[in-house]
Amino acid sequence: MSDVRLPYFDFLLSQLDKKNAAVETSFGRHVHWGYWADPASARYEDEDYGRAAEQLTLELCQMVGVKEGEKLLDVGCGFGGTIASLNERFDNLDMTGLNIDERQLERARSIVVPRASNRVEFVQGDACKLPFPDASFDRILAVECIFHFPSRDDFFREAFRVLKPGGVLALSDFVPSPLFLPALWIGRAKWLKKLNDFGDLNFEATFSVYERLARDAGLEFAVRRNITRNILPTYGYIEAMLKRGSDKGAGLIFKSILAMGRGLGKSGLLNYCLLSFRKP
Ligand SMILES: C[S@@+](CC[C@H](N)C(=O)[O-])C[C@H]1O[C@@H](n2cnc3c(N)ncnc32)[C@H](O)[C@@H]1O
Repeated sequence: MSDVRLPYFDFLLSQLDKKNAAVETSFGRHVHWGYWADPASARYEDEDYGRAAEQLTLELCQMVGVKEGEKLLDVGCGFGGTIASLNERFDNLDMTGLNIDERQLERARSIVVPRASNRVEFVQGDACKLPFPDASFDRILAVECIFHFPSRDDFFREAFRVLKPGGVLALSDFVPSPLFLPALWIGRAKWLKKLNDFGDLNFEATFSVYERLARDAGLEFAVRRNITRNILPTYGYIEAMLKRGSDKGAGLIFKSILAMGRGLGKSGLLNYCLLSFRKP
C-alpha cells in the first residue's frame, strides 16, 4: 500500500488552508510539473506556471485521445485538475477520479462542478486494486503518480482489466537512462528514504521495463514522448517561488526537488516522458 498521506501533500494542503496565493495559483489545481512548448518563453511567475501545468494536462489528454460519450478514469487524480480541465472542454463525458488520499478528494469534489451533460465522481482507492468491474473504461489517465504506486505490474494488470477492448492508458513518468539505475538502487537505502519528503518513490522503470510491463499485461505500447526539455523550467519556477519567500518552511522540500530533478533532466539521466498503451 502507498503512503496515503504524502508529506508534500501535507505541505500543500496546509498552504492552501492558509490561502497562500502562490501555491493556490501554481499547485491548487494540478500537482505536477509544467510543460512549455518553448522553454525559453518561461517567465517563472505563478500564473505562467499555472498555465504550464494546465498545458501538461492538455498534452497527456491529447495523447489518450478523449472523445465525447466516453468513460474515463483518472488514477491518482490529486485535486481533480485533469478532470476539471476535461469537464471544461468536453460534453457527455463520464469521469471518475481515484485517489488513495481522501483529503485530496474532498478538495477535488469542492472544485470540480460537473457541467450539465457530464458526470463526475471521485472515489477513494488504490491504483493497484481498482474498485471497478472489468471493461469499465474507454480511457485511463495516470498523471505523474505511477512512481508512488506499490507495484507498476499490479497497476498495469488492473488497467488492462478495467479497460474496454480498444481502450487506451496514458501516463507520465520519470524514465531513467539505464546508466542511472545503479544510483537509484543505492537510493533504496532506508536511511535515505527517511530524508525524503516525497513518500515512497520508484524511478526505476526504463523504456525496456515499460515494454515488459505492457507485454505482460497484454497491452500494446503505442506512443512514447520524451518531454524533458519542455518541463525543465519547472525547477527555475520553484526556485523563484522560494526566493520570493512564498513560504520559508517549504525550502527543504522544494530544494530536494530541485537538486534531484534539474541536473538529472539536463544530463539525460532521468527523463520526463509521456507514454501510452492500447488494449487490443
Ligand atoms: C504528483 S501527484 C499527481 C496528482 C494528479 N495526477 C495531478 O496531476 O495533479 C501524485 C498523486 O498520486 C496519488 N497516489 C499515490 N499513491 C497512490 C495509489 N496507490 N493509488 C491511488 N493514488 C495514489 C497521490 O495521492 C497524489 O494525488
